[in-house]
Amino acid sequence: MSTSRVALVTGGAQGMGEAIALRLASEGIDVAIFDIKGKETQLASVVKQIEAKGRKALWIVGDVAKEEDVKGAVDKTVASLGSLDIMVANAGITMFKPLIETSVEDWEKIHSINALGVMLCFKYAAIQMIKQGRGGRIIGASSGSGKQGIQNMGAYSASKFAVRGLTQSTALELRQHKITVNSYAPGFILTPMLAHPDDDKYGGHGSVAKMAAKMPPELEGAKPDVIAELVAYLIKPQAYFMTGQTLIIDGGTFFD
Ligand SMILES: NC(=O)c1ccc[n+]([C@@H]2O[C@H](COP(=O)([O-])OP(=O)(O)OC[C@H]3O[C@@H](n4cnc5c(N)ncnc54)[C@H](O)[C@@H]3O)[C@@H](O)[C@H]2O)c1
Repeated sequence: MSTSRVALVTGGAQGMGEAIALRLASEGIDVAIFDIKGKETQLASVVKQIEAKGRKALWIVGDVAKEEDVKGAVDKTVASLGSLDIMVANAGITMFKPLIETSVEDWEKIHSINALGVMLCFKYAAIQMIKQGRGGRIIGASSGSGKQGIQNMGAYSASKFAVRGLTQSTALELRQHKITVNSYAPGFILTPMLAHPDDDKYGGHGSVAKMAAKMPPELEGAKPDVIAELVAYLIKPQAYFMTGQTLIIDGGTFFD
């Protein structure tokens, strides 16, 4: 087993996943990043940046909604980097649609990635970490809309509420193994997810998404490093006492 800790970050080609992977590398952690087919160039670029920080890195292509891909990603990470100590189940997709236009296919697609995908990452990370017997950190991506529903985002909000429930149940089950389980609940983070070709016409990055979700135009966005910094705390030894939490970082938009 590797002596340095090893992380697997899904959705690691861009946005929050990229920021988290690079932040973990700065903490001295070797990092595998996982993303879908078509993201190979971005994945390779993130791997180069991790290696430039003096850490080992690996990129893996797959789909978090497919059980064999998630199991395979955990196995490849362990085979190449020596262990799995930190899982960041970050990959997700969004969708802006009122309920009356949401199809069964829309619902199933978003839940297969945002909820089932996170469940599979938690499951296979937990199996590996229990086998290793040295604890671990499991982190999921929920959302501010996993705490309070947002207009025109019903399917997405429901998938992010699912991550909160899973985080709480898994934290209880894994406490005996010294594995903590927490999720982040970001507000408006300026990543490619919220970019639209017409953004410049309406006030810059994220403005079309804000209109689609009927959010106030003055709502402030933040860079993904605000989330990467929280993850950097959650993986510290001193964070052993925090588990089962879904932590909002949204500039004070919503208090729970
Ligand atoms: N940006 C925000 O404001 C915001 C707010 C709250 C929550 N989130 C959540 O944070 C997470 C990261 O979001 P982001 O803004 O960085 O998004 P992003 O779209 O910029 O990046 C997400 C990455 O996940 C990958 N991905 C999508 N489906 C996948 C699949 N089936 N298998 C593997 N990888 C897949 C994408 O290819 C992409 O590289 C997501 O779960 C998102 O729902 C984002």
